[in-house]
Amino acid sequence: MTTDHTLAAEALTLGYGDRTVVTDLSLAVPAGQVTCIVGANACGKSTLLRAMARLLKPQSGQVVLDGRDVHRMNTREVARTLGLLPQSPIAPEGIAVGDLVARGRHPHQRLVARWSAADDAAVEEALRVTGTLDLVDRPVDELSGGQRQRAWIAMALAQQTDLLLLDEPTTFLDVAHQVEVLDLLTDLNRERGTTVVMVLHDLNLAARYSDHLVAVRQGRLHAAGDPDEVLTPDVVRDVFGLESQVVPDPVSGRPLVLPVGRHRVVAATA
Ligand SMILES: Nc1ncnc2c1ncn2[C@@H]1O[C@H](COP(=O)(O)OP(=O)(O)O)[C@@H](O)[C@H]1O
Ligand SMILES: [Mg+2]
Repeated sequence: MTTDHTLAAEALTLGYGDRTVVTDLSLAVPAGQVTCIVGANACGKSTLLRAMARLLKPQSGQVVLDGRDVHRMNTREVARTLGLLPQSPIAPEGIAVGDLVARGRHPHQRLVARWSAADDAAVEEALRVTGTLDLVDRPVDELSGGQRQRAWIAMALAQQTDLLLLDEPTTFLDVAHQVEVLDLLTDLNRERGTTVVMVLHDLNLAARYSDHLVAVRQGRLHAAGDPDEVLTPDVVRDVFGLESQVVPDPVSGRPLVLPVGRHRVVAATA
C-alpha cells in the first residue's frame, strides 16, 4: 500500500530576516518511501524541514503538496496530511504524556472538538508502539531525554498522517532506542505506506534506513538518490570536510562510513 500524496520543494530559498540559509533548493520527496536528509551542523536541514511543513515562509520558491502551494493551504488542511516532529519541540509546562499525545489528534477534530473512539484508538496505539504507555500520566518535563523524545514521536504518530517529517528523531536515544525508532518508522512506511522524511545525524543509520538519501551542503542540495550512490568518500569530504573510507555494512549491505581522523589510524589506512 502506498499513499499518493506528493510533496516537493521547488527552487526554495529560505532564511531569517535578510540572512539566506537555504538557496534555490529543489527536492521531490518520493511517495511511499523513506527519505533521509544529512548535512553538517547549521547547513539548513531544520530550516528546510520547517519550510516543507509550512512553518516557515519561503523568501522565494514554493513547497508543493498534492499540486498546491502549502502556503496557500490552511493549517488544518496541511496538518491532516503532513505531521512534523521539530528538532527541539517545547511542551506546555506540566503537561502529561497522555495529554501531549492526544494533542496530535487536534487536526482530526471538528470545530467544536468532539473526542471520538478513533481518537482514543490512535492515541493508545501511538503510546503502545513507542513504549510510552506506562508514562501516560507522567509530566513530560520530568522525563529523561530519551523518554521525552519517545513521547514526542508518539504525538507525531497519533496524527496518523500519510506524510511524516521528523527532525533528528533519534536525538537523546541510546543506540537500542535509536534502532527501535527507525525500525518503527520503517514499519509505518511498509505497512501503511507512510512517506517518511527525516533529518538524521548518524550517516550510517541514514544510509541503512533510507530509500532516498539527500545530502545538503551550505543550504544547497549537494547530492540525492540511492544511498549506495550518494554516500561516497567524495560526498562525505564535500559535505562534512571529513576524510573517510566507505565499506559495505555487513549487517545491511548499505554503505558504512568510517571516518579517518588524525589519531588512532593504522598505517595502512592513513
Ligand atoms: N529562528 C532563527 N533565526 C535566525 N537564524 C536561524 C534561526 N533558525 C536557524 N537559524 C540559522 O540558520 C542556519 C541553519 O540552521 P538550521 O536549519 O537549524 O541548521 P541544521 O538543522 O542543518 O543544523 C544556522 O546558521 C542557524 O543559526
Ligand atoms: Mg537541525
